[in-house]
Amino acid sequence: MLTEVTATRYVTPLREGGSLPGIVEADDLGTYVMKFTGAGQGRKTLVAEVVCGELGRRLGLRVPELVTIQLDPVIGLAEPDQEVQELLKASAGLNLGMDYLPGSLGFDPLAYEVGAAEAGRVVWFDALINNVDRSWRNPNMLVWHGDPWLIDHGATMIWHHNWPGAQASAAKPYNASDHVLAPFGPDIATAAAELAPLVTEELLTEVTAAVPDEWLAGEPGFETADQLRRAYVEPLLARAGSIHERIVLEAPTKTRPSQAPGWLTGRLSPRPNSTEKDRDVQAGAAHDSKGGGR
Ligand SMILES: Nc1ncnc2c1ncn2[C@@H]1O[C@H](COP(=O)(O)OP(=O)(O)OP(=O)(O)O)[C@@H](O)[C@H]1O
Ligand SMILES: [Mg+2]
Repeated sequence: MLTEVTATRYVTPLREGGSLPGIVEADDLGTYVMKFTGAGQGRKTLVAEVVCGELGRRLGLRVPELVTIQLDPVIGLAEPDQEVQELLKASAGLNLGMDYLPGSLGFDPLAYEVGAAEAGRVVWFDALINNVDRSWRNPNMLVWHGDPWLIDHGATMIWHHNWPGAQASAAKPYNASDHVLAPFGPDIATAAAELAPLVTEELLTEVTAAVPDEWLAGEPGFETADQLRRAYVEPLLARAGSIHERIVLEAPTKTRPSQAPGWLTGRLSPRPNSTEKDRDVQAGAAHDSKGGGR
């Protein structure tokens, strides 16, 4: 179960997010990035955030804490933007919150160096969950207190949009050519050897249990929330053992939806000393501009 809090103040929308997430304060005095059940992307995005975010954290990757947030849309009455008002109205009840990382910077592969070991772990994890949203176009990583953090796992597990075809879909390869960490020579074999044994049925049962029942209700073909949770476990369990053999790392796609920049294509050739730094080396700016902690 995720911790449940209640929103006490709507602070501001985060306009760079396609789903218009907002910053809210809650009754535990925490500040959260709130993802709304009423957003056009639908509840499955939130289910994916919980399953994959919790899984990533349990595998030792940095993912900000997730909570559920009770929302009374009345807290947004002073918000002048009509779109935000409507989103809040459509999202009364339980929503998703991610711990807000104050002072974090968007991950920039030109400004931050990631070691091959860590790049391997992130690429392997994204392959496991079939994350199509960690590309150089949209990294969905933040740098906070000098470390890279993974956010936004809403566009993962494509198979949950078509359960009858889930097994076939989960057997497909993962193309990591446009992954934002592809230029860092990800050591996928080592990551797979380290992480795959941790992805057990028990762990997956635990992370799917964190999804609130009401986000799982009413899925065609499933009578109970637990049956649907089970359906989430299976493809991930099946993928864990062998997905490393099906990770495609080629030249970045040139034309979809825009041309890969020169720095990326230029950097894809292996670099001599980017190998054995398990810790990331960051630009000093990240340390200097960090916020005041949680
Ligand atoms: N935990 C966080 N702490 C600080 N800032 C955050 C956090 N989560 C998200 N943000 C900021 O909000 C932006 C949007 O968040 P996110 O990517 O999760 O939303 P989204 O609607 O799923 O976006 P999209 O689908 O367009 O990638 C991020 O790019 C980042 O700038
Ligand atoms: Mg995003």
